[in-house]
Amino acid sequence: MKAFTFHNPTRLHFGSGQLAKLTSEARKYGKYVLLIYGGGSIKRSGLYDRVLELLHGAGCEVTELGGVEPNPRVTTVNRGAELCRQHRIDWVLAVGGGSTLDCGKAIAAGAHYQGDFWDVVTNKVPVQSALPLGTVLTLAATGSEMNANSVISNEETKEKHGWGSPHVYPAFSILDPAFTVTTPKDHTVYGMADIMSHVFEQYFHRDPHTPVQDGFCETILRTVIATAPLLVNDLANLQHRETILYCGTMALNNVLSMGITGDWANHDMEHVLSAVYDIPHGGGLAILFPNWMSYVMDDYLPRFRQFAVQVFGVQEEGRSDREIAEAGIKALRDFWTSIGAPSRLADYGIGDEHLEAMAAQATARGPRGNFRKLDQGDVLAIYRLSL
Ligand code: NZQ
Ligand code: ZN
Repeated sequence: MKAFTFHNPTRLHFGSGQLAKLTSEARKYGKYVLLIYGGGSIKRSGLYDRVLELLHGAGCEVTELGGVEPNPRVTTVNRGAELCRQHRIDWVLAVGGGSTLDCGKAIAAGAHYQGDFWDVVTNKVPVQSALPLGTVLTLAATGSEMNANSVISNEETKEKHGWGSPHVYPAFSILDPAFTVTTPKDHTVYGMADIMSHVFEQYFHRDPHTPVQDGFCETILRTVIATAPLLVNDLANLQHRETILYCGTMALNNVLSMGITGDWANHDMEHVLSAVYDIPHGGGLAILFPNWMSYVMDDYLPRFRQFAVQVFGVQEEGRSDREIAEAGIKALRDFWTSIGAPSRLADYGIGDEHLEAMAAQATARGPRGNFRKLDQGDVLAIYRLSL
């Protein structure tokens, strides 16, 4: 285990009935609020009306920015930041999935930056400050509700990058599983693949002696594996929604990263994939991760052996480490297929046309990952394995 410092300032209101906390939270941050949401799911579910009612009840004046895209665009961020300056906005409330929350973080920081927010996303300009941000989450997936990260796309240049700043931790996040029940099956599955991938990024490391961290990761993985088949057949089940929602937050709020260096190569490879093809992030990860595993497992077989045995209950008797590791990866492929996740780039109609350029883009800032450093050739090989 490495030395570490842990700090997470987000106030988490989790569970049934917690939307009522919006009133007291709203009173802390000022009268003028920018309400941000996506393509309309919150209007169809009735959440939009309830949020407006609570904000008005708290004495807020609301300016709105709807239509945030899945894989949110920098043009929308710039529009939101301009609205904040025009209307002297005090704080930002993002209601929706990870895309809306990520856009909210960028707008909260962009309000204090007069230029094109792409400068921040591409690390040319540091974030000095941001408006306070609150969130109401409607999709279990990204962990954006309790971390300082955001992922923004540039449609013009076909790039998508993660950026982050301690200034954009949500001040508060409200998570009621009831708001996630309308998530359709495909996005529910993508969300669960994303959650598992976040755990993988922090589980596949080479730091010695991390038994507690390993146990946290394995518990989340086993829980998602046990719950996912029940949830996809019963999308309105509140208990299963609650379990997955909690897994999603715990998978990426920095708790699993205490004392270890995560990998994150799959996220870098996926971000290029969804930048070029605009596919759902969790779908891209479900395709890439098993192929990355097969590609790197020989570098440190004990980790893959532990994964197979502890997470999928692979039998060890009479098998080599390599056979056990392979059985674990196969179990993951079979599991994701069983819940309806994609397994090949062809599932999204993606061929090999742009793979070389994508591998170059993924490694433009240097080799990716830590479990094994992947250069351009490695990334291309993994994309090809995924065809
Ligand atoms: O836009 P609306 O109409 O709200 O519909 C959304 C969208 O079409 C819909 N949806 C969300 N909640 C719903 C619902 N539909 C019905 N009922 C509900 N309750 O689901 C669709 C997908 O939403 P989106 O927000 O795009 O999904 P997700 O939460 O998976 O977010 C994906 C984005 O987050 C980034 C990804 O790269 C991608 O851009 N990530 C952010 C991270 C972070 N901030 O830490 C980490 C992740 O690894 C990830 O990279
Ligand atoms: Zn992710």
